[in-house]
Amino acid sequence: MSHANTILVRVSAIEPLTPLIKRFALSPAAGGFLPAFSGGSHIIVVMRGATRVHRNPYSLLSPPNLLDSYQIGVRRMEVSRGGSMFMHDHVRIGSELEITHPVNLFNLDKLARKHILIAGGIGITPFMAQMEDLRAGSVPYELHYSVRGPEHSAFRDRLLERHGARIRIYHDSANDFIDVEGLLGNQPLGTHVYVCGPAGMIEKVVGTARIAGWSGSHIHWEQFSAPPVGDAFDVFLAKSGVSVRVPPDQSLLEAIEAAGVDAPYLCRGGVCGECRTKVLEVDGVLVHNDHFLSSEEKESGRAIMPCVSRAQCTKLVLDL
Ligand code: FES
Repeated sequence: MSHANTILVRVSAIEPLTPLIKRFALSPAAGGFLPAFSGGSHIIVVMRGATRVHRNPYSLLSPPNLLDSYQIGVRRMEVSRGGSMFMHDHVRIGSELEITHPVNLFNLDKLARKHILIAGGIGITPFMAQMEDLRAGSVPYELHYSVRGPEHSAFRDRLLERHGARIRIYHDSANDFIDVEGLLGNQPLGTHVYVCGPAGMIEKVVGTARIAGWSGSHIHWEQFSAPPVGDAFDVFLAKSGVSVRVPPDQSLLEAIEAAGVDAPYLCRGGVCGECRTKVLEVDGVLVHNDHFLSSEEKESGRAIMPCVSRAQCTKLVLDL
């Protein structure tokens, strides 16, 4: 993907939704409208700080038919490499940011006879836009939304107002949890399930659906990983002829970009496969953190996803 075509946007509204989540409205700086998108799409927000550039993926949560601005929800992460803190602490109304064009890696299945949506915490965001699409159609849907407690249920009023009895909100603080087995155990043929939230929730829903005999094509999940920190290492980009030092708190992809080399990406979360890069040489181990490569590919040591994966080595040579 070429990133030359980012869109310059201006922050037109900021609203705290919960103690941890803020909603940002992003309007095109040049006026007019933003590109069309479908529910489940995300954008990458480019944040140019004083010392480094952050590029974080965020789901679009505004109704897909409103294109004078996009809305995103940003959760302040307890362990942050800086992107969510930058959005919370430095971005103001009037700030300018760049965004990429929307990409949808979490589509609703058009042939589904029923949709069950399961969200945990900030994982509600892709469903906000998806449910606007569903509300306009005739296929039944329901949302099961789990949060820590009432003060953390972002969008509660809007959800209940727009979708009424199709919404069920669960509060951990009241020991009220989603009965995943019960929910998935008795659904009409042709039902699709979608889950977005913490890793444990995704594993639980996907595992339960598989055990209950759901077809893999009816199970959908979105799990963007944040690039983990790790030891510093050096990489040589063979095609570009550039040596890059990857510091502990920067991803391999970020370090490559900071060195002025344009590398492909779509999700920056280890999901889409766009950044897959051939490993030409490594004198240590690759630390794979993606959800894209198969276990065999990971073991072979011949490919890496630089958006989330790194290496423990003294010499890594990539075909870039
Ligand atoms: S950019 Fe999507 S897997 Fe790396």
